Amino acid sequence: MEFPTVRMRRLRRNEQIRRMVRENSLDAGDLIYPLFVKPGSGVRDEVSSMPGVFQVSVDQLDREADELLKAGIPAVILFGLPETKDEAGTGAYAENGIVQQALRRLKEKAPDLYRITDVCLCEYTSHGHCGALDEGGCVINDVTLELLAQTAVSHAEAGADMVAPSDMMDGRVAAIRAALDGEGFVELPIMSYAAKYASGYYGPFREAADSAPAFGDRTQYQMDPANGDEALREVALDVDEGADIVMVKPALAYMDVLWRVKEMFGMPTAAYNVSGEYAMVKAAAARGWIDEKRVVLETLTGFKRAGADLIVSYHAKDAARWLARG
Ligand code: PBG
Ligand code: ZN
Repeated sequence: MEFPTVRMRRLRRNEQIRRMVRENSLDAGDLIYPLFVKPGSGVRDEVSSMPGVFQVSVDQLDREADELLKAGIPAVILFGLPETKDEAGTGAYAENGIVQQALRRLKEKAPDLYRITDVCLCEYTSHGHCGALDEGGCVINDVTLELLAQTAVSHAEAGADMVAPSDMMDGRVAAIRAALDGEGFVELPIMSYAAKYASGYYGPFREAADSAPAFGDRTQYQMDPANGDEALREVALDVDEGADIVMVKPALAYMDVLWRVKEMFGMPTAAYNVSGEYAMVKAAAARGWIDEKRVVLETLTGFKRAGADLIVSYHAKDAARWLARG
């Protein structure tokens, strides 16, 4: 009988050697935690489809920030649930809007926490679409660009460290870059949701952010899940328009896209491990069907292996704690 000369198992014998040859690692410093902010005080409402995720009022942000910083998580991405909504989504760019309030609070109480904002209109429009609508119910691209740019500037003025447009309008990165530069925020980076798909995995988020479209869906602006080459064109445009970081979203069903984007552009690349991905893990773990810790760390490490430098995840707090305990 012939024995193999190359035995892959030699380097798997114990944890020491496995650690020495490990190619990728996950660090709390790679993680960004999404926060949903709503009016009121003392409010912590758990999102039913996302156990462990809460909509919190501005005063509760101190506690959130404390927890995140202690866990070694450097950054948050903020989403707002405004008091009222209207056709033009004015709450998104109101000087005293909910995200603007959250930014000021965090800047004052937790200056070391890096503040990213999601720039979109769907949480603020009465119809739940990501921009201004024409009579036919279609989002008007170029009018929306102005509102997005206004939103980004208002976030910057309130203390955002970075803005992250998630609307998928054409030309939004250029419009936001020009507006920020025009107001003197030349050093403020843009993380664009560059390849964002029209995904069923956003379901729980729309409960969390109260942003479900009142009619129709987002297939006229978000990408068709069947397309990969198109994602590269989207990313190329955003890079050209001045994006500093490019994101692929969702993450799990789009690992190939993540890989291609990282390979082709070599840009700082983010993966958004979205609400539906989180909900699936939580639901199975609650039934004892999977080992939550193993599955979460495996998934997040998989994103890194596929090319993600940064990961936005609702699992961030848990993952950081598990990593710290080794
Ligand atoms: C807003 C936005 C969405 C998400 C992030 N920003 C929802 C959507 O596009 O419908 C989804 C995040 C998640 O599912 O966790 N445009
Ligand atoms: Zn939106």
